[in-house]
Amino acid sequence: MSIRLPRGTQDILPEDAVVWQHIEKIAREVCQGYHFEEIRTPIFEHTEVFTRGVGDTTDIVQKEMYTFKDRGDRSLTLRPEGTASVVRSYVENKLYGEANALTKLFYTGPMFRYERPQAGRMRQFVQFGVEALGSANPHLDAEVLALLIEICNRLGLVNLKLVINSLGDKDSRDSHRQALIHHFEPSIEEFCSDCQSRLTKNPLRILDCKKDRDHPLMKTAPAILDFLNDESRHYFEQVKQTLDQLDIAYEVDATLVRGLDYYNHTAFELMSTAPGFGAITTLCGGGRYNGLVQEFGGPETPGIGFAFSIERFILAMKAEGVTLPERPKLDAYIVALGDEANQRGAVLLNELRKQGFRVDKDYMDKKMKAQFKAADRNGATCTIIIGEDELANEQAVIRHMGSGEQKTVAYEAIVTELGESIKGGLEA
Ligand code: HAM
Repeated sequence: MSIRLPRGTQDILPEDAVVWQHIEKIAREVCQGYHFEEIRTPIFEHTEVFTRGVGDTTDIVQKEMYTFKDRGDRSLTLRPEGTASVVRSYVENKLYGEANALTKLFYTGPMFRYERPQAGRMRQFVQFGVEALGSANPHLDAEVLALLIEICNRLGLVNLKLVINSLGDKDSRDSHRQALIHHFEPSIEEFCSDCQSRLTKNPLRILDCKKDRDHPLMKTAPAILDFLNDESRHYFEQVKQTLDQLDIAYEVDATLVRGLDYYNHTAFELMSTAPGFGAITTLCGGGRYNGLVQEFGGPETPGIGFAFSIERFILAMKAEGVTLPERPKLDAYIVALGDEANQRGAVLLNELRKQGFRVDKDYMDKKMKAQFKAADRNGATCTIIIGEDELANEQAVIRHMGSGEQKTVAYEAIVTELGESIKGGLEA
């Protein structure tokens, strides 16, 4: 039996890994420009982090977690998302005690959800996310969205639609909750068993149900925006105003509720509108979570953040025809024949690498022709040839592969000469 990778996972091979590195690099750079710093948390946590954080009536907690007992009989879970872990760490490490009350963090790493795999939906996927903790200023909501749009633009993603909504504060959500119960209760037996138990526990989750999506009562369900109290309405207005000032285009969608329980006030999703992008169009989701830090035993601390998966960003970049980075080419490939020349080659290789050149040589005792072929295959700009004559004279030949021009140079001049050759082509 041949062993294959588990369903919903993938190998990222070298030609794809360069695209991943590119996205991670740009996202990191933009975050650093916005003064966000990296945090790394464990890949597994105590299960309670997510049942409490994400919410135990959500699909993620009820159906999608990879939960297991360790040998000490503790219930652990492979993280399905990053926010709950970051907040757990924020509280555990008392980051709220730092002089600068605002803590701006970013993270990247694999997340795990037992979902039905399809294009853009994996069981292991990599999220890049940010969390800003410590301020309930609407400008911060706009800053977080500006950061997201900046990452997208730097990656060449332009066919985007930003959808925002407000889930209001606790009072607003309580009135909405009553209205939802009132709306669904008379016909609740027409809904799936999950929705039936959601009715009293968390009726907002009914709006998120994949099975009952097409039930007519879904379309007529009361929208949270109609239940916002003055304070929540005012907050949302300020967020929208700041987005307008920053020239960030958005649409308000009163039906956007998000699949995690911790949200209040601003909630948003970024969709790809690129033609040819698959059925799942959400590239990124996020929002405000003002009660989550208290949920983990910390002081009252508001927070806001988002996460996107690199898998979906790559799909969107491909759908938009963005030129993707290719594997880096070699500066030079050393072609050497015989033991002595190979030894000389090894020393040279070492020296050139220390100077920052990207170089390689043959380790398979290949014939000259095969070595040139390998140089070609690796896209080497130059070859450095060490034959018998060169060896005797302490020299090597540098050949520019594009022009075919070559020159013989003294061994100790190779570092400088190679630099020249790469820069300007060869002058005989
Ligand atoms: P989420 O909407 O569950 O939010 O996921 C955020 C993003 O992760 C999605 O928009 C999508 O890009 C990606 N994603 C989710 N599931 C999968 C999957 N199975 N395969 C591939 N990509 C996937 C959160 O996770 C929140 N923690 C976001 C957040 C941060 N809110 C505040 N701060």
